[in-house]
Amino acid sequence: MCGIAGYVGDEQARGIIIDGLKRLEYRGYDSAGIAVAGGGGLQIRKAVGRIDNLEKLIAEEPVKGSTGIGHTRWATHGEPTWANAHPHTDQEGGIAVVHNGIIENYAEIRAWLKEEHGVEFRSETDTEVIAQLIGLMYKGDLLEAVFEAVSKLRGAYAIGAVCAGEPDRIVAVRNDAPLIVGLGENCNFLASDIPAMLKYCRSIYFIENSETVLITKDDVTIFNAKREEVKRDIYHVTMDADAAEKGGHDHFMIKEIYEQPQGIMKTIERRMDGGGRIKLDGIKLGKGELGAIDRVYIVACGTAYHAGLVGKYAIERFAGIPVEVDIASEFRYRSPFVNKKTLFICISQSGETLDTLMALREAKKRGARVLSIVNVVGSSVARESDDVFYTWAGPEIAVASTKAFTTQMMCLYLLALYMAGETGALDSGRFQSLMDELKQVPEKISEILAREDEIEKIAKRIYKKENIFFIGRGLDASVAFEGALKLKEISYIHAFAIAAGELKHGTIALIDMDTLVIALASQDALNEKIISNIKEVKARGAEVISLVKDGNAKIAGESDDTIYIPACMDEVAPIMAIVPLQLLAYHIAKLRGCDIDKPKNLAKSVTVE
Ligand code: AGP
Repeated sequence: MCGIAGYVGDEQARGIIIDGLKRLEYRGYDSAGIAVAGGGGLQIRKAVGRIDNLEKLIAEEPVKGSTGIGHTRWATHGEPTWANAHPHTDQEGGIAVVHNGIIENYAEIRAWLKEEHGVEFRSETDTEVIAQLIGLMYKGDLLEAVFEAVSKLRGAYAIGAVCAGEPDRIVAVRNDAPLIVGLGENCNFLASDIPAMLKYCRSIYFIENSETVLITKDDVTIFNAKREEVKRDIYHVTMDADAAEKGGHDHFMIKEIYEQPQGIMKTIERRMDGGGRIKLDGIKLGKGELGAIDRVYIVACGTAYHAGLVGKYAIERFAGIPVEVDIASEFRYRSPFVNKKTLFICISQSGETLDTLMALREAKKRGARVLSIVNVVGSSVARESDDVFYTWAGPEIAVASTKAFTTQMMCLYLLALYMAGETGALDSGRFQSLMDELKQVPEKISEILAREDEIEKIAKRIYKKENIFFIGRGLDASVAFEGALKLKEISYIHAFAIAAGELKHGTIALIDMDTLVIALASQDALNEKIISNIKEVKARGAEVISLVKDGNAKIAGESDDTIYIPACMDEVAPIMAIVPLQLLAYHIAKLRGCDIDKPKNLAKSVTVE
């Protein structure tokens, strides 16, 4: 998500704005910029990459003025480049705008401005359309121009605007993207989130949807959609800056676990149209293209690889197309059977994992078509792929991947269903029931999150264990691998995952008195099989915690403790089943006093082979 910071007062704006943007770095970004209005007119400074790059630029080319706005950009429309970085200006350079959100009708406004008013655009962004529109409407009153321009916009947006001719004010608008105003002494602040201004003030106004606010150093005036002035209660912020960055959570990991319902909704909402059809962001994977493919490879690392295991199941089961899944670091040393008839799907949250990138390049060299499932817009994997299917999970800061995993799986389900629709492999009734099931996932995950206390109780009982086994069959095996990885990487417990049917082929020798086994049992079709595995390990003295769907008393009766998930179709159970395991890993690590967001030896993106 992007970040917005603004200041109007007696001090120089630049330092205060940069400081505010730094407090929003947790939102993830790929470029930053500021616009300052003052004696020297409207001065713009932008830089790609970290905020430090922007600071260096400002040190070399200072800006002067006590009114300004700043922005950290998380790319949605257009690559992370200098031209696409905010602020954007109108063509006269008298209006500067920063923006969070998406303008749905930006293309038609852009065409209208270009054709009817000869506006020459300098970026690919929807934000520049706002700046150009305000510039067109400007007749000497910034507030009026913003009212007029915003009346033509559709979408979710938080906007900040400054003007060379009115260097004592900021005008801002909120519609579905958060915006707050901070009230200081002889100064006022604008921000997309509380942390940006906590150092300077703790009295704030929350701006509501369809409201416009005029900010000067002495006054803040809020207007509703009818342009009537409205009164607003002052909210007094009590949380500390660090907690505010995590949305009140103790760690980024738990914040991101809780963001999964909204993340998955974002993954779905762009891809399911009202008619129950799936849209693939323009990716051409129709009957013709699928007819030209004789093999699908899914290649990734770590958590993304585990999502790939679920993707294999979904594509084979829904679309009837054979799929091979491979670990990226192994793939290219296997002289894989890849050629121009191969669809190579690579999955990567960061889009910078070198193992995955090298596997992608190997596949391209052999003629494969590359479709990547990525979270970071404009990342290396995204740029080097033929097609990109973004997860839209929003920035994932914690090293342990959570919302990226569930949104990756959602992307794979959508892809598999789309392919099934094209190949006719599913009858319409089954297709529709699977679509309906996917739509219920966000709500069911919210239900699981509401049961966090039950998970915490189990964590309190087992957090001192040094060895824990995860077992499962079919799709549950994939979830077992991911559940074990979560626990390993943040609690440093030796967590071992194995396909339950494999136990008897050697590993069961390790099971003895008080060995703890977590048995994934979400697959109704495999219930009898997993029950026999539970009996096998219990016969050797193991303690078993099973994870089952609500109402599965049979397996609960075989277990020492049970974790429940809402009833759902076997096929989509992995998206639900992993959530209690994420929470379990989190609470165990917390009880063990581990550095949850930055575990030892790990990096968020592994850019070495
Ligand atoms: C996940 O919890 C791990 N941090 C790690 O396995 C990660 O999934 C792997 O390094 C792949 O990263 P990527 O998705 O950014 O390519």
